[in-house]
Amino acid sequence: MLSQKVVTNLTNASGIRAMFEQGEKLRALYGADKVFDFTLGNPDSEPPEFVKNTIKKLVSDDIGVHKYMNNAGFMDVREKVAKSLSNETGVDLPANNIVMTCGAAGGLNIILKSILNPDEEVIIFAPYFVEYSFYIDNHGGRTVIVKSDMNTFEPDIGDLDKKITSKTKAIIINSPNNPTGVIYKEETLKKISEILKNKEKEYNTSIFVISDEPYNKLVYDGIKLPSILKIFDNSILGCSFSKSLSLPGERIGFIAANPKIKEVNLLMDALIFANRILGFVNAPSLFQKVVAESMDVTVDIEIYKKRRDLIYNHLINLGFSCIKPQGAFYLFPKALIDDDVEFVNMALKYNLLVVPGKGFGCPGYFRIAYCSSIETIENSLPAFEALAKECRK
Ligand SMILES: Cc1ncc(COP(=O)(O)O)c(C=O)c1O
Repeated sequence: MLSQKVVTNLTNASGIRAMFEQGEKLRALYGADKVFDFTLGNPDSEPPEFVKNTIKKLVSDDIGVHKYMNNAGFMDVREKVAKSLSNETGVDLPANNIVMTCGAAGGLNIILKSILNPDEEVIIFAPYFVEYSFYIDNHGGRTVIVKSDMNTFEPDIGDLDKKITSKTKAIIINSPNNPTGVIYKEETLKKISEILKNKEKEYNTSIFVISDEPYNKLVYDGIKLPSILKIFDNSILGCSFSKSLSLPGERIGFIAANPKIKEVNLLMDALIFANRILGFVNAPSLFQKVVAESMDVTVDIEIYKKRRDLIYNHLINLGFSCIKPQGAFYLFPKALIDDDVEFVNMALKYNLLVVPGKGFGCPGYFRIAYCSSIETIENSLPAFEALAKECRK
């Protein structure tokens, strides 16, 4: 009766949700403060004071902020976003190359809708953000999974070289990465760029680089993110304020298309049209104005860094093997037994909720989202210790 594909995908996609529901049960049984829920990438912190005050001001001002506007967003907002992004990336972006979107998720769907023909392939790197294959499928594309180098969690360049075909339409890069927290090195990105150029020549095709960047402001240890727009001419950024301003429920982000893309004006028309016909129509109007005022603002990155250090150091002391994340708010350690699903079920005994790596295309690992409070992290440390002890028995 229903779409068979949706019903099948519902079952396949229920991993993180199922853990969340387990959490609800445990909270009801033991009390919220006794349950250590690290399943969702939903920041616990409030938006910065500046953002809250801007919201209040804009709501009380009478400036016609709640109306429809061009499907691409308010022009003054696109101008501010373009200016800020040009400063950050070193690539001169006109406001016409920006579309305001309903978060990064809305942006990705608009991009894929605009570029994909039936059965064209989109490459993603495992471990990957769980939703990518659904988004690709939404628009008739086929997902092709490329491995990562398991020592660095950066793309496996050899595997990428093998998997590109005449049907490859795009690759999706996500750095800082969910679920690993890894930032791809400039050198790696340049190697990817070389491969793409060679393959484009070989097949006489054009391959888009879609850079999914909801974590581009959550970067630690003084690292500077390499500029995707500078490295890849054929690139489109999908950005979001969900994490950088703790506004995930407000659904606000933007797309920026590289001015060097051939027929970029046609692409922009397609992106704006896709925003309209996918039913987004336009990004939320009030929050377009809010983020335009807040382009230089972020949540306190030091808070996340402190949480990362606390939990990472503890896990290393307990003998876990884990790459130290340089960005985002996730850790992706190796499970202490082979079966990550069994490991995650063992963790439940200690009221510890984490997500198996299997769902991210990387069995044998598990994800910890450390965007929860420092108290939750501190209180969870003995639970990790008890779990490690049980695995070693
Ligand atoms: C890698 C990645 N891409 C996209 C999204 C979607 O973000 P948004 O809330 O901006 O739609 C998320 C959210 O967790 C994510 O982790």
